[in-house]
Amino acid sequence: MSFPEDRPRRLRRTEAIRRLVAETTLSPSDFIYPLFVAEGLSESQPIASMPGVNRWPLVDLGKQARHVYELGIPGVILFGIPRDKDAEGSSSLATEGIVQRSIREIKDACPDLIVMTDVCLCEYTDHGHCGIIHDGDVDNDATLEVLAQQAVSHATAGADFVAPSDMMDGRVGIIRDSLDESGFDHVGVMAYSAKYCSAFYGPFRDAADSAPQFGDRRTYQMDPPNAEEALREISFDLDEGADIVMVKPALPYLDIMARARQTFVAPLAAYNVSGEYSMVKLAAEKGLADEKRLVMEVLTSIKRAGADIIISYHALQAAEWLRQ
Ligand code: PBG
Repeated sequence: MSFPEDRPRRLRRTEAIRRLVAETTLSPSDFIYPLFVAEGLSESQPIASMPGVNRWPLVDLGKQARHVYELGIPGVILFGIPRDKDAEGSSSLATEGIVQRSIREIKDACPDLIVMTDVCLCEYTDHGHCGIIHDGDVDNDATLEVLAQQAVSHATAGADFVAPSDMMDGRVGIIRDSLDESGFDHVGVMAYSAKYCSAFYGPFRDAADSAPQFGDRRTYQMDPPNAEEALREISFDLDEGADIVMVKPALPYLDIMARARQTFVAPLAAYNVSGEYSMVKLAAEKGLADEKRLVMEVLTSIKRAGADIIISYHALQAAEWLRQ
């Protein structure tokens, strides 16, 4: 049967009918909200490249955490901006380090909020690369040891999930082993598995002060033309023990998300990154499009492509809109 018997417009006639047949629905419980915490701040500081996003001082975190939780968002992912940087990123391991203290602060204020931590060196190294440098390049195996220690120190502070974002080979396995050996078999790993070398991280690097001081990240982050390789990266990470795997960025890689959904039975996360966020915010600020419609369309597309979890700077605003 087809026209005139079939009339797809019947199912679009009213808002209630459209809601009834919607194949994808968003909920605050789909989201993880990223939080930037800076050492030595006395009050929150707006991030110029990301309108509506702040760097927070430690003292405000409890309040922020409760706000996120009350909106129905299950968790946050923490990014630390330390005062001291060196070649090895050693401030990332300190018991009194910015992320370690932030985890304790949040867990004290809001124990049920899931705390995830970004495990990487780029915010802590003076050269801004995601690993230890030897002979001008990032040394994969030397970096693994530091990442594993960082993951254990986050778990010790109370993190529920650690999320390695460095893109070193073999990091999920060594982190899993180290967590298990240290008595943290209940702490999960969310792997940034298919993380592309993307221009869309620009605003984040400004926010986290983590731009590489020489060269770029092409020798460790994935090359944008590749899709099969993303599936291989995801399968390695699942074999090594990842609990959740991620595709990042989201919008330019929805094809990767859709293929991952068809290929793997595992929770899939998408990171709707800083550049994707700022593009929407700036377009709305300029009056080029309606912000709410842009945000909801973007987030719905990510879910429709197959994401179970959406990490997004829009999360607070979207959760508020979804409650209305
Ligand atoms: C690395 C890290 C980055 C992001 C998350 N973790 C930046 C990078 O790889 O340069 C990007 C997030 C975003 O752009 O929103 N620690």
